[in-house]
Amino acid sequence: MTFRLALAGPRDVPRMGQIMEAAFDPRFGEAWNSVQLGGAMAIADTWGQIGLEDDDPYGFSLTRRVIDEAELMLVAVLPRERGRGLGRRLVEGAMQKARQRGAHKIFLEVRDGNATALGLYESLGFSIAGRRQNYYNGAAGERFDAITMRRDLA
Ligand SMILES: CC(C)(COP(=O)(O)OP(=O)(O)OC[C@H]1O[C@@H](n2cnc3c(N)ncnc32)[C@H](O)[C@@H]1OP(=O)(O)O)[C@@H](O)C(=O)NCCC(=O)NCCS
Repeated sequence: MTFRLALAGPRDVPRMGQIMEAAFDPRFGEAWNSVQLGGAMAIADTWGQIGLEDDDPYGFSLTRRVIDEAELMLVAVLPRERGRGLGRRLVEGAMQKARQRGAHKIFLEVRDGNATALGLYESLGFSIAGRRQNYYNGAAGERFDAITMRRDLA
């Protein structure tokens, strides 16, 4: 079975929230809560894409566009479904949709030390554009830097 992507609507927020809760390690403070997720999905030019296999949701992305720039805000895949290409498919799908919606470049923030995500983004042509110090608030009060990455969508 191969993955397919579907645009998410407001009714998908709870299952996106469940995936997010399972996917992100709470130690690092990268995850959002469902209220934040639902609020973001209601903003114009912000969209979610769900990765499905056989109609079961295994991952999602959240992206927004402002003028000609897109921001990939979240990508998450259930731990038991990782390493099968869904993360790559979600990022590619987000870039494709952003391009269709008029973005010429895409940015994202990733926690310094998140080797899997950094490896995924680099392999998809993203390069490091900067660092935001103490961007993430960890569960135990620690702070973690974010690496800003960008890629042209031409
Ligand atoms: C990041 C994440 C979305 C990747 O999902 P996935 O479905 O496992 O991704 P894929 O199977 O498509 O693997 C994509 C690439 O990740 C990279 N990768 C995977 N594991 C890696 C590791 N341990 N170290 C470095 N790179 C790694 C590789 O480039 C891999 O591509 P390849 O196997 O084709 O060479 C998933 O690990 C996840 O949900 N993590 C928690 C949430 C998160 O950190 N999100 C990103 C920040 S918002």
